[in-house]
Amino acid sequence: MSSLVITGAQWGDEGKGKIVDVLTERADVVARYQGGHNAGHTVVIKDEQFILHLVPSGILHKGKLSIIGNGTVVEPKSLLIEIDGLLERGIPVGDNLLLSRGAHLIMPYHIALDGAGEKRRGNSKIGTTGRGIGPAYADKIARHGITVGDLEHPAIFRQKLETNLSTVNELITKIYGGETFDADAIYDEFMAYAERLKPFMGEASLAVNNAIDEGKSVLFEGAQGTLLDIDHGTYPFVTSSNATSGGVCTGLGVGPAKINKALGIVKAYTTRVGEGPFPTELFDEVGKGLQERGAEFGATTGRPRRCGWLDMVALRYAVRVNGFTGIVLTKIDILSGLDELKLCTAYDFEGQRLTEFPSSAAILEKCKPVYEKTMPGWKESTAGTTEYDKLPEGARNYIAAIEDILGVGVDIVSTGQRRDEIIIRNEPF
Ligand code: IMO
Ligand code: MG
Repeated sequence: MSSLVITGAQWGDEGKGKIVDVLTERADVVARYQGGHNAGHTVVIKDEQFILHLVPSGILHKGKLSIIGNGTVVEPKSLLIEIDGLLERGIPVGDNLLLSRGAHLIMPYHIALDGAGEKRRGNSKIGTTGRGIGPAYADKIARHGITVGDLEHPAIFRQKLETNLSTVNELITKIYGGETFDADAIYDEFMAYAERLKPFMGEASLAVNNAIDEGKSVLFEGAQGTLLDIDHGTYPFVTSSNATSGGVCTGLGVGPAKINKALGIVKAYTTRVGEGPFPTELFDEVGKGLQERGAEFGATTGRPRRCGWLDMVALRYAVRVNGFTGIVLTKIDILSGLDELKLCTAYDFEGQRLTEFPSSAAILEKCKPVYEKTMPGWKESTAGTTEYDKLPEGARNYIAAIEDILGVGVDIVSTGQRRDEIIIRNEPF
């Protein structure tokens, strides 16, 4: 019995979906604590690919409870599309999915405001996924959000909707030059979603805490990554939720002492989608090679991901803000064939040497990577390797260097997309 949180250590897309899927075999409950359908978690089972956005990756396993916590934002239409897509492929979705009444709804106007806001920011745009994530969380914090639970109370839902639209429609027409939203149309649409979502609604915090008290194993599935966290990421080029491990407490109503372990998912190189500083970004053939071999194109938006060397300054920071107890290294197979590998261990900021990650994106923007450590690459393919000792010496040295710099062990190494392409050195549960 234990509980374990899995968090992206970089800018998202670290391969969390696959790791959650593998660990779900050992868990009873899988719970999402933040984010929305901006996430894209790819899971490959027997050469069949599933891309999950809001539903926890645990849904793919029979007999496990998947929970969408209060800290998430839910766009009902796309959630239902996701559920229907799973049902069509023979994956049961029923009592095994619990949707928190406390989660906030992404409304149609949030999506419009996301797009309009990005357009207005022009060159300083964030490069959001356009899913309405930021505006939905903004309404939550401003205390006029509409929750999943409000769908069970049509009069409350209607009143909140009308109040919000009275402001939103002014904003959209007068400031952004867009079209107004009609309360009747949204009300009818959402009441239809309500009928379908009601069977899934429940008390997420109660379910998670009961599971822990009963000695069950609980897996907390993070979306996005540390550097996209609203508080600890490269603000303002971040998402609007707490992707870091602490988000579990507020996003699910679980006390900190009930979380036993925090695993950081680290891709063997770095990627970023959207705008914002990225010191180790590569603009050469090496970067292009990583992008091609790693199929680094967004699972949610299809955008090409920017690629670069492993940034150990950022990773040491991620270990600190998340309290990682172990690391899962993913996509090591993509590095085969490179002559050499560089590890960024410090930044040069206007002639000053920084060894700690700066909390200001304006400073990070001016940081140049310092590569004190260049390691020989390896030619052998590692795709699908399941034994640590079978990894080429170069790969083992790379892993040892990561452990040495981070001061945390690499417990798991993922060597391919499929569930069985994995090396488990230390059982997390
Ligand atoms: P997973 O869970 C990578 C990025 C967007 C943008 C910024 C803000 O698959 O790792 P948003 O739509 O959230 O307001 O966009 O965050 N972003 C992600 N990048 N992986 C994700 O999720 C992401 N979710 C959001 O590209 O830069
Ligand atoms: Mg993604």
